[in-house]
Amino acid sequence: MDKLLIRGGRRLQGEVTISGAKNAALPDLCATLLSAEPVTLANVPQLQDVNTTIKLLANMGVAVQRAADRGDDQHDVITLDAGKVHNPEAPYELVKTMRASILVLGPLLARFGRARVSLPGGCAIGSRPVDQHIKGLQAMGAHIVVEHGYIEARGPLGADGQPGRLKGARITTDMVTVTGTENLMMAATLAEGETILENAAQEPEIVDLANLLIAMGARIEGQGTHRIRIQGVDALHGLTPAQAHQIIPDRIETGTFLCAVGAAGGDVTLRRTDAEQLEAVIDKLREAGVTVEPGADFIRVSASGRPKAVGFRTKEHPGFPTDMQAQFMALNCVAEGSAAIHETIFENRFMHVNELIRLGARVEVDGHTAVVTGVPALSGATVMATDLRASASLVIAGLVAEGETLVDRIYHLDRGYDRMEAKLRGIGADIERVKG
Ligand code: UD1
Repeated sequence: MDKLLIRGGRRLQGEVTISGAKNAALPDLCATLLSAEPVTLANVPQLQDVNTTIKLLANMGVAVQRAADRGDDQHDVITLDAGKVHNPEAPYELVKTMRASILVLGPLLARFGRARVSLPGGCAIGSRPVDQHIKGLQAMGAHIVVEHGYIEARGPLGADGQPGRLKGARITTDMVTVTGTENLMMAATLAEGETILENAAQEPEIVDLANLLIAMGARIEGQGTHRIRIQGVDALHGLTPAQAHQIIPDRIETGTFLCAVGAAGGDVTLRRTDAEQLEAVIDKLREAGVTVEPGADFIRVSASGRPKAVGFRTKEHPGFPTDMQAQFMALNCVAEGSAAIHETIFENRFMHVNELIRLGARVEVDGHTAVVTGVPALSGATVMATDLRASASLVIAGLVAEGETLVDRIYHLDRGYDRMEAKLRGIGADIERVKG
């Protein structure tokens, strides 16, 4: 299992190019199931979760062509052709490594009238059920049973006794769910009539997915607000390489580098990103004394000396993202003063705390609140990554710790960060991947 060896204490200096957003790429890849024609996506990040999704789609019969395979040097361009899907099924072996696999359920059901998708297993950061996805699809007329660990779904039966098109419906989810909104929005594009999604998630990745679907011929309004209206159409068309959909920049990767500079000090420009998607985090970084200067498609960040501790509460977009909680906590660990962090989205998202404590951090957890008291210096140790964003917080802590930090189990990091150690090395960090 690969590990990352970090020698802390280096100032970060230079430029980093931000990759396409993981959480937009995954639904966008699944959305290609909705068309019988090839769909081209650009700015696709190189991540394990993207590879898993491609494997999942290929297993169904989707033909996948990377521009690089054609001898083209655009490594971020992929064309997916779901014209010959023979197996509308997501098996447990693939779903267990990535919960977002549930995103094939809506598109499969909408286009083929049936789907068989393994229930996602337990997840380190909480139980994360998919009941809202199922309830929404049932409201659209789907018949769904859960048996032997699989969601078995089919469309409403037509006069011929065959599963037919889903029917538009007004759906109010019990809570705001990102992938739930995405699944239902995708399903509704091919349903009969109008669907209204109330209490919809407003994340930029939802807007990205809606823009892709609209480019494919879907009729959607209200993306980015709490009410999304979709008028079903008979079919969606493809996108040629010339019409490729550009995936938005990864705001969580951006925020992770901002926190790294805030904690370690330095002066770095992040290229191909968008500060508007990250206002809540940038506001908190400024409160912490970090200088953040956004440009049209870049952000310059600089910091020197210890930051100030800043408290926050995670919330749905446009609030402070739960996916940035662990990384900002790492910054607070070396800040002056103390601050309370409230996690409101997931029930068990403080697993990085015990590992940060191994590095000398002072953190006390009481239920959904963690109180961090900054210390002047962390000290390097061997630590274990427990989930994707927790891994990133340990890397940030390793960058500021004295001596060597070895972060074990970085397969979590590889799931969601595009060549993180290479990007950090490019701005002066002393970090290397240790094999085995
Ligand atoms: C997405 C993101 C993830 C992020 C999270 C919250 C992707 C691929 N992943 O995950 O990085 O941390 O949003 O911003 O985009 N819930 C239910 N029933 C459901 C659905 C959700 O109870 O049917 C609960 C969850 O347990 C959780 C909350 O709702 O407590 C929000 O979860 P949700 O927005 O669905 O997260 P994901 O879409 O899985």
